[in-house]
Amino acid sequence: MEKYLSNSVNETEKIAFNIAKSTPIGSVVELIGELGAGKTAFAKGFAKGLGIADTITSPTFALLNSYVGDNGIKLNHFDLYRLEDIEELFLLGFEEILNSKNEISLVEWPQIAESIMPKHKIIITISKLSSTEREIKVEHL
Ligand SMILES: Nc1ncnc2c1ncn2[C@@H]1O[C@H](COP(=O)(O)OP(=O)(O)O)[C@@H](O)[C@H]1O
Ligand SMILES: [Mg+2]
Repeated sequence: MEKYLSNSVNETEKIAFNIAKSTPIGSVVELIGELGAGKTAFAKGFAKGLGIADTITSPTFALLNSYVGDNGIKLNHFDLYRLEDIEELFLLGFEEILNSKNEISLVEWPQIAESIMPKHKIIITISKLSSTEREIKVEHL
């Protein structure tokens, strides 16, 4: 397990950028943290680390936004916050997408789909220490 301390949005993005660089293709990354913790800030830095130039927004209303980086790596960015029925995930092919060996999936609010999340994953937990400080914990399961 690794822990990082961030003192700004910029630092959170940089930490995420570096984590992305060392994330193997095929990984599933869970992103956990309360509203305002910095999950979207993390996702932005993570995407940049994969060579994605597009602006990353929270896919809150889309459930899934996908991007392709300049090196051809595809990033699937899920936000399950507004998911009402796990059935929606089956319709979307959620499990197949997470299983893609040549893509990386980043899942915000994975708790909602806990029963179908894979065993092997990277869990990122962002905790608010103050208005500007965040602890970013990285666990490899
Ligand atoms: N160190 C930090 N890292 C990330 N966000 C921070 C930090 N310090 C303050 N913030 C603020 O916290 C908020 C995080 O928002 P956001 O990334 O949308 O969170 P979430 O997606 O988890 O709801 C932003 O308003 C941002 O300016
Ligand atoms: Mg968000």
